[in-house]
Parts: sequence; C-alpha cells; structure tokens
Amino acid sequence: MTDYANTQKYATLSFSDGTPSLEMPLYSGSVGPDVIDIRSLYNKTGKFTYDPGFLSTAACESKITYIDGDKGELRYRGYPIEQLAQKHSFLDVCYLLLKGELPDSAQQQEFVNTVTRHTMVHEQMQFFLRGFRRDAHPMAVLTGLIGAMAAFYPDAIDVVDPVQREISAIRLIAKMPTLVAMSYKYSIGQPLVYPNNGLSYTENFMRMMFSNPCEDYKINDVLVRALDRIFILHADHEQNASTSTVRLAGSSGTNPFAAIAAGIACLWGPAHGGANEASLNMLQQIGSVDKIGEFISRVKDKNSHVRLMGFGHRVYKNHDPRAKLMRETCHEVLEALGLQNDPLFKLAIELEKIASEDEYFISRKLYPNVDFYSGIVQRAIGIPVDMFTCIFALARSVGWIAQWEEMITDKEYKIGRPRQLFTGYAHRNLE
Ligand code: CMC
Repeated sequence: MTDYANTQKYATLSFSDGTPSLEMPLYSGSVGPDVIDIRSLYNKTGKFTYDPGFLSTAACESKITYIDGDKGELRYRGYPIEQLAQKHSFLDVCYLLLKGELPDSAQQQEFVNTVTRHTMVHEQMQFFLRGFRRDAHPMAVLTGLIGAMAAFYPDAIDVVDPVQREISAIRLIAKMPTLVAMSYKYSIGQPLVYPNNGLSYTENFMRMMFSNPCEDYKINDVLVRALDRIFILHADHEQNASTSTVRLAGSSGTNPFAAIAAGIACLWGPAHGGANEASLNMLQQIGSVDKIGEFISRVKDKNSHVRLMGFGHRVYKNHDPRAKLMRETCHEVLEALGLQNDPLFKLAIELEKIASEDEYFISRKLYPNVDFYSGIVQRAIGIPVDMFTCIFALARSVGWIAQWEEMITDKEYKIGRPRQLFTGYAHRNLE
C-alpha cells in the first residue's frame, strides 16, 4: 500500500464479546471506495473477516483498470473505454495496459513490430494439439495449449527477471491468436494456417481463422474493426474472477503461462466468460419474439434456475458501457453484411426492451452486459458459438499479464492464502 499508507484516517471496530475495540487504518484510492486495512486484525484479535465471493474485499492495490459500477463507467489507465474503442487499436490498448501510457508513434511501431515477430508458435505445438480429440471444447484445448507454453518457451519463465517477464508477455499476446485459430482449424479438420506478418494483429487472426489453402480470406474492414473492438472491450476488467485467479495462482511464484492457464479455466464458466456462448444459445432456444414472455417467466421463477444470460453484473448496477458499444458495433456489422433483419438481433433488442421495463430486472439493477450483443457480432463475423469464450480469452490475456506483472512488482506481494470459518467436526476419534 505504498501511495496511501500515510493515512490519518481510521476505522474503529468494536466487539460485543469483550474483545477491546481496535483502530484500523483507512486508505483512500485516487477514486472509488476507501478501504479498511485489516491485515493486523488476526494478530491483534485472533479473528478473521468473512467475505465469500469478495463482496466487500479489495484483494490488492492496482493502477490499471477502474470501474464505477453505479455510473456504468470503465476506464483503462484513466481513459474511458468509449474513447479508446473509438480512437485506438487493440495493440495500442495492450501497450497502455502493460506500460501505463498510450504509445507515441515510434513506440507504437516498435511494439507492433515486436508483437508481429512473435506470432509464430513452436512447430512442435501442432503435434501437442493433435493429441486432443477433435470434438473437444476449444476452451479445454486452449487451456492446455497455454499451460503448455511453459514447456515450449521455458527460456523466459523466471518470474524474478523483468526481461524474461516482458518476453513472456509479448509471446502471450502475439501467439494467442495463432493458438486460438489453431484450436479452431483442428476442430473442423482443416489445415492449420500460419500467421502472415504483413497483416495487422486482427486481420492476421481472421485470416488464420477463415482462410484455407484453396481460398484466401477477403479482409472486410468493418468486420476487422468490429473484432478489434471486441478485443478492446474485453482487454481488462479489474479484479474479476479470472484475473483474481491469475493473481492467486501467480502469487505462488508459478510461471505466467501456468497462472494464465488457470485464468482461462476460470473464464470458461457460464457466470463469467462462458456467458457469451450461453447468451447466444439462449437466444437460439427462445427462438422467436412471441416466446420471450414465457422465457422471462421462467427466469423470474427461482425454482427454474434459469438466468437471463448476458444480463447482470457484480459491479455494474447501471448500464455496462461495453454493452452500449457492442450494440453499436452489432448494428454496423449487420448492416455491412446486409443482415439488418437478422432474427436473433431482433430478438435480442426485444428481449432487452422487455427486461428493461420489467420490475424484476429494474429492482435488481440488471442490465445487458458485454456478452449480450457480442455473440451476435461474432456469429455474423463467422465465429462459431463454441469459440466465443476463446475470443474473450484472447483479448483478456493482455489484462491478465498486465495484472500479473503489477502483482509481481508490488512491494506488498505475498502468496494469497484465504482463511476460513470452519463449521465441520472440531475433533472426533475413531471407535
Ligand atoms: N438473470 C436473472 N436473475 C439474475 C441475473 C440474471 N442474469 N443476474 C442476477 N440475477 C438476480 C439473482 O437471482 C438475485 O436475485 P435475488 O436477490 O432475488 O436472489 C439478484 O439478481 C442478485 O444476483 P447475484 O447472483 O447475487 O449477483 P452476482 O453479483 O453474484 O452475480 C452475475 C453476477 C454476472 C454472475 C449474474 O448477474 C449472472 O449470473 N448473470 C448471467 C451470466 C452473465 O451474463 N455473466 C457475464 C458477466 S459480464 C462478462 C464477464 O465479466 O465475464
């Protein structure tokens, strides 16, 4: 807690069980809620705090991404997401997240060149890939491939060496599109496509996904820009479940690829990155506008365990700014492809409208999140539904590595070790 440690503010904790009351330092960040430093609580009182799901716990100090959930704002390194999405490329955003500032033109050129030179993966990785079943879920394959990067690139995984950390960060960002495209090609039985370093980051990814030896992929600027925007919108989101997983795994000192493979595994869940796949599947299951009422009734029935996927967020209790940008991109893409009458898009718009007027969603402050429209955009681009979460992982890898780097270089860095409220048998003996 380097910057805010000289606090003059305190919180007083009093107890009803006779434990003397305790003053604990209160720190203010540059923006956002104050935090109470409870680190000495156990030493001084023998008590823990209890916060499953981290509803009120700041697990680290960070300077990277800030969300104001009540206002519906998201900023990377202080810049509003809307400005970055409109004026910058994904690689600029990567630079910003990693280094703290946007690149000038010389830095931009150097960064693009460096990333571009690392797009190819070790030739042996395709043989590793071939060990998977072809019908495996691409997220299962991707988790394996990223974990395996520590085996293919062991020369730069010493976490105490800043040069090696930077090489690994570049390798991750540069090779992620190649590995995602490889998992896709493998699953559909097509030859793997090598990167083409004459193309931009996103063009190159689309070509590796959609071209084959018989037919090159025709670059469509609207679609490239849309996918680049998807990458920007998913690049980081402060201490979400997968990022916290990367930090926790990385706190043991494990190599970055192992930590990020753990993050990918966490992202896969339907409450997190798997929501874009679940959301599109949900739209397909609803099928038509006249079935929305019936579906909403099921969502509102607690016993059904059905959720409106792509709706709600732990932090946003207002519109998710990414959802608004995604809806805009959705319009652009469908128009460019002549799909303005896409039935799923119409269904999504109607579903959003109905939910926004329904007391259940209003009272719980449930709004569409980024995943509600991103599936429709990705589907229009030609990305199959089960690849959606891989696209999320590709984009988020920069956030994960930036947050991991911040943790490793934090003076307060310690292995993460939560405690528990134990309610099992205290002690018993065998008969
Ligand atoms: N549909 C129906 N009801 C919902 C939904 C939903 N999507 N989300 C929350 N609720 C209800 C929930 O049942 C609860 O109601 P009650 O107070 O009556 O018990 C209330 O809203 C609060 O829900 P919660 O589960 O305590 O909220 P949370 O902050 O723990 O969960 C969430 C956040 C994102 C997991 C949840 O909103 C959800 O499951 N959404 C659907 C999945 C989804 O779209 N996830 C993507 C999140 S954005 C991308 C990312 O960051 O990965």
